[in-house]
Amino acid sequence: MCGIVAAAAQRDVAPLLIAGLKALEYRGYDSAGLAVLEGGEVHRVRAKGKVREMESLYLSNPFPGGTGIAHTRWATHGVPNEANAHPHMIGRITLVHNGIIENYAPLRAQLQAKGYHFTSETDTEVMAALIDQNLSGGRGLREAVLATVRDLEGAYAIAVISSEEPGRVVGARRGAPLLVGLGIGENFLGSDAQALVQVTNRIIYLEDDDVVEITREGAQIYTLDGKPAHRGVHESELSADAVERGEYRHYMQKEIFEQPHAVANTLETRISAAGVLPNIFGAGGDELLAKVKGVHIVACGTSYHAGMVAKYWLEDYARLPVNVEVASEYRYRETVVPPGTLFIAISQSGETADTLAAMRESRRRGYLGTLAICNVPESSVTREADLKLMTHAGPEIGVASTKAFTTQLAALALLTLHLAKQQGLDEERYRDLTEQLLRLPRTLEEALKLEPQVIELAERFVHRHHALFLGRGEHYPVALEGSLKLKEISYIHAEAYPAGELKHGPLALVDEDMPVIAVAPNGPLLDKLKSNLQEVRARGGELIVFADTNAHIDGNATRGAVLRIDAGGDFISPVVLTIPLQLLAYHVAVLRGTDVDQPRNLAKSVTVE
Ligand code: AGP
Repeated sequence: MCGIVAAAAQRDVAPLLIAGLKALEYRGYDSAGLAVLEGGEVHRVRAKGKVREMESLYLSNPFPGGTGIAHTRWATHGVPNEANAHPHMIGRITLVHNGIIENYAPLRAQLQAKGYHFTSETDTEVMAALIDQNLSGGRGLREAVLATVRDLEGAYAIAVISSEEPGRVVGARRGAPLLVGLGIGENFLGSDAQALVQVTNRIIYLEDDDVVEITREGAQIYTLDGKPAHRGVHESELSADAVERGEYRHYMQKEIFEQPHAVANTLETRISAAGVLPNIFGAGGDELLAKVKGVHIVACGTSYHAGMVAKYWLEDYARLPVNVEVASEYRYRETVVPPGTLFIAISQSGETADTLAAMRESRRRGYLGTLAICNVPESSVTREADLKLMTHAGPEIGVASTKAFTTQLAALALLTLHLAKQQGLDEERYRDLTEQLLRLPRTLEEALKLEPQVIELAERFVHRHHALFLGRGEHYPVALEGSLKLKEISYIHAEAYPAGELKHGPLALVDEDMPVIAVAPNGPLLDKLKSNLQEVRARGGELIVFADTNAHIDGNATRGAVLRIDAGGDFISPVVLTIPLQLLAYHVAVLRGTDVDQPRNLAKSVTVE
């Protein structure tokens, strides 16, 4: 899950490649590098760390050239350092790679026996050497790449230049994203459309096992057997503004505050006062959903938490049995699939390797059909699903998911309503749920006004090492999401539990140094939750409660704080109560001075296993 950009142009491409890499840093930021081909000579610059480190090296010694490749890395094979940074050069070949080559070890041994000398620990360098070897026998770069990828096992997206073929870049993909950007008199490759938004909106999405050759004049695609292939041109709707940070300090903060608008986009044209509109899941969607007797949801990380909330909703309101599973588990075990089961993949990026593999695996297991809930049109998950419900959240740049989560929940709420109606939910209740959902953008806007109080609260966490999050029912996944946010950007160790589980073990951790954060909606479980909070209080724990305005919680009896928030109703309250937890994680991270948008060791899009 690294990022790739490449260009074949008349103008100097290094500044374009650097701008493209900056848009791709969400995919990894352990090291960056670029190489430019000029008059048969390759100039290369690489640096450990973010793209800006490499950029300042480049600016201290810039070089011209119209053909180039560039890379931002998330380390898999080999530590993040300059030697392991891409592009890798061997013989006539310079190459960047995203993915993992599984059979690299035997290939490396064979190539070493033939005299190739490797200077990095990466699997990528092996690929470069193989292509160089395959250039012999009169093959050009494209034929050599084709011959090489036929021998590879694993996942890759690559961009390659040869010192013997000026003006040409060859790319290939299998299991990792790569697309072509068509400019005027210049053409590009990129891991996504965002990387190319500065130069073009005309995009060709490559398919698995495609090999592509770009020059200034055009782009030609080939299948693995070397035959020319035709793939359609799409107009990307991304604008350069959509990926600007604007007045906000971090992308994460911007994305938190975009949520009312983003959720409104998810709901737009899909629901009215009368309920969910027909045909919102694409052609044949309503007919397929009419046969649903159960649901399996598969996802990773934050998207998995969205799936967990949906389990409560679908079982409560649509009375359908639901299983939710993390994709990396699902794909490697045998599941029981009762007839009429719908498979749902939830993914912000639509490129998460485990989710994609799980969805492909599901084809073999006899589901009724697959539904993708996704934010990126033309992503692999979206393209391969039978039905899709796009979340329309707009680009999410911060590694920590915020608006992706709440828009996934809004999409899952639409699905819940659709299926609940079909399963005969009482009309009055259906109307109530519909009204709550229509009010959601406005309720989120109100919830965001809590920020000043959350900032004050954040001060208490600056020197903490641990935190516990509690919730019950559909607010347990909200607690999980809150703890994930806190740990990933502030590096404070956090765990979440269903509040009723506390006494079965985690209570032993509670003392005056352990802050306990609880989400307290008003509802039938409130009294139960209050008893659980008493257990914390009795052990001297510091309680921070985010409570619905109607929930009777005695703030004075708490060592800690109770913050009030209008949760907007029992249906939408998991979405609304997520907001203060996101704000808390964000402001704690800011106070601790961490890299909020690009926390250590992580990447936005996890396209490796
Ligand atoms: C959470 O903040 C992370 N961004 C991560 O858990 C993420 O949700 C997970 O990697 C799945 O990504 P996806 O939604 O793009 O598939």
